[in-house]
Amino acid sequence: MLKNDLHVGAPRSRVDGPAKVTGQATYAAEFTTPDLAHGYIVESAIPRGRIRSIDTRAAEAVPGVVRVFTHENRPRTAWFSFSYQDMVGPPGKPFRPLYSDEIQYSGQPIALVVAESFDVARHAASLVAVDYERTEHETDLGRARHDSYEPPKRRLGIAPPPKPRGDAAAAFGAAPVRVAGEYAIAAEFHNPMEPHATTVIRGEDGKLTVHDKTQGVQNSQAYVASVFGLSKDDVRVVAPFVGGGFGSGLRPQHQLFLAVMASLALERPVRVELTRQQMFGHVHRPETINLVSLGAGEDGKLRSIQHQAIAATSRFEDHQEVVVNWSGLLYPAEHVDLRYELAKLDIYSPGDMRAPGAPLGVFALESAMDELAVSTGIDPVELRLRNYAERDENEDKPFTSKELRECYRQGAERFGWSRRDPRPGSMREGHELIGWGMASGVWEANMMKTSARAKLTADGRLAIACATSDIGTGTYTILAQIAADSLGLPMEAVEVSLGDSTLPDSPVQGGSWTAASAGSAVSAACLSLRKELLRLAAKIDGSPLAEAGLGDVAFTQGSIRLIADPGRAVPLAQALAAGGKESLEATESAGPGLIGMMLPKSHSSYTHSAVFAEVRIDEELGVLRVTRIVSAVAAGRILNPKTARSQILGGVVWGVGMALHEEGMTDHRLGRVMNHSLAEYHVPVNADIHDIEVIFVEEEDEKTSPIGVKGLGEIGVVGTAAAIANAVHHATGKRIRNLPITIDKIL
Ligand code: MOS
Repeated sequence: MLKNDLHVGAPRSRVDGPAKVTGQATYAAEFTTPDLAHGYIVESAIPRGRIRSIDTRAAEAVPGVVRVFTHENRPRTAWFSFSYQDMVGPPGKPFRPLYSDEIQYSGQPIALVVAESFDVARHAASLVAVDYERTEHETDLGRARHDSYEPPKRRLGIAPPPKPRGDAAAAFGAAPVRVAGEYAIAAEFHNPMEPHATTVIRGEDGKLTVHDKTQGVQNSQAYVASVFGLSKDDVRVVAPFVGGGFGSGLRPQHQLFLAVMASLALERPVRVELTRQQMFGHVHRPETINLVSLGAGEDGKLRSIQHQAIAATSRFEDHQEVVVNWSGLLYPAEHVDLRYELAKLDIYSPGDMRAPGAPLGVFALESAMDELAVSTGIDPVELRLRNYAERDENEDKPFTSKELRECYRQGAERFGWSRRDPRPGSMREGHELIGWGMASGVWEANMMKTSARAKLTADGRLAIACATSDIGTGTYTILAQIAADSLGLPMEAVEVSLGDSTLPDSPVQGGSWTAASAGSAVSAACLSLRKELLRLAAKIDGSPLAEAGLGDVAFTQGSIRLIADPGRAVPLAQALAAGGKESLEATESAGPGLIGMMLPKSHSSYTHSAVFAEVRIDEELGVLRVTRIVSAVAAGRILNPKTARSQILGGVVWGVGMALHEEGMTDHRLGRVMNHSLAEYHVPVNADIHDIEVIFVEEEDEKTSPIGVKGLGEIGVVGTAAAIANAVHHATGKRIRNLPITIDKIL
């Protein structure tokens, strides 16, 4: 039997792992050059108003200070005469640093101090004196919710709620079993290990090389070119390594603007990096309120689903995400009414954070489903099986694939769900109450147009290139696996280059679409090479492959072999030589409407999960631990079980953070986030995380992407907080509808 030593599907370690753990991987704030100047941002101390005066003299007098930029002396840039929105930004007027004396949020950059060293810049920044004129502000969603509105302009790529079906209010009123509640989730901050940073290096020719902390080098490149009126050829943005993104690096952030502005004005290289504290009051997951009402029969079958969400946004942009649509998608019902509204606050615009919208809306829906299970006395898993959606009722389309039923089955079995006593407070060990809860998860499976280049050289090495980033997800590794298998080479023979705007086009890395999109592009580029190599091999005098088509051969161990007679083969190097070539190169694209893109508008594609959680709560102290989680995921083909598992583990830990820890706390008198450090803004640490088990349920999907992949970066977080909250109810009988679940809410 002829078989490649296949890499796809095998648990390969990260190819970029050694570089990362030995400090060889270089991040945006680590690139350096002689004559580098350092910028430090001065932030507004008030949330709304204007700068009456700003005195920079003391700062400028500090030895080593090069210049202090404010709205009064900043250079004119192209952006100041038009409004530019980046590829993923929402409708509105994006914030423009140093544009005017207007203050739009606390933490807004109002000056940039550039000095010979970071420490001098930081010290001088503390000497900038500002006289503000304050205007009344609002940062409290509890008040602003009363002025909520439907976003007048949709954000590109974000589906609005579906049209109402039936009469949900009337059906709710008439339903034998009814549950209704209000569920709120605090604002959360991304806090990737690598804070936002940009290092701008100028070439002799005046061209800029911009090392930016970004999830999309070409998005940053287009932004810099547009807002500074430069040619794209004059701006190269590189980010070969990204220390975590989670969505915070999707849009260009203000340090990019300030670093380029200063570099152009001073005609020298400049770096601007944000401190951890400056990362707060900046991009974040919007605080969101959900109102959910479910009406059902005694049999638990849903008749009416109503879900309204009100999410915070800034005064200047309508950030939007998909929060309520999941409630019309996960379970069928005749009467459905879903609404999504925004409320304006004097804050920086919220942004996408891991599975934007889904963990918020699904927390509300899946909590309400648990309440329905309690009300009807039906087991929570059984309730979901009775309400299993066989098609996407929002869009009235079949799914490309959906193995959620199998997620419930395998997850429940592994967790030991059948041993659950449904009575709240019935399971305990010593002074600890034990709670078992579960929830469903769902997230989009998308594919975006992406290009990749593959270049094979006579020495048997294969170079893969694509502009997409690897934000820590394992993109380098899976692309190497796909390429190695395609040409029958060892993984060590494959070199992958990413995160450079000069490489073949890619959208931002996000939306869980990169494996499907970049993976398919690499597969397509390698397929082109295979075709050409076979053509060349067939032309060799007396070639054993003279009559062979692509389906008759396998690329394995560096040769093209006849499947029917593997001894008859042509080495790749010989095929190249026959064509008189030193190397062979192909660039191909994959995506909607392109090669291999099969997802027709007639289908919907989602990933699903079933999450089971165990909590243990100290009865007297209210201390809560999540001691066990099983996450069973159906996400199409798993390219690499090792990196895939890491994605789900990370997502689950995020879910634990959402359920128990993460909470941006604003002092509404000051309009400012007060817990702006990792000491006070809590995220799960090792001691908070116990057993997490990940199951990948087999799912064949031929429609979402040519390589059968649906994507995994975000599904792990969806549903996890609901499963934990439901477990808390099972342990204590307390329904906590307000995240995070802190001790004060349990006692
Ligand atoms: Mo993701 S929130 O699209 O990085």
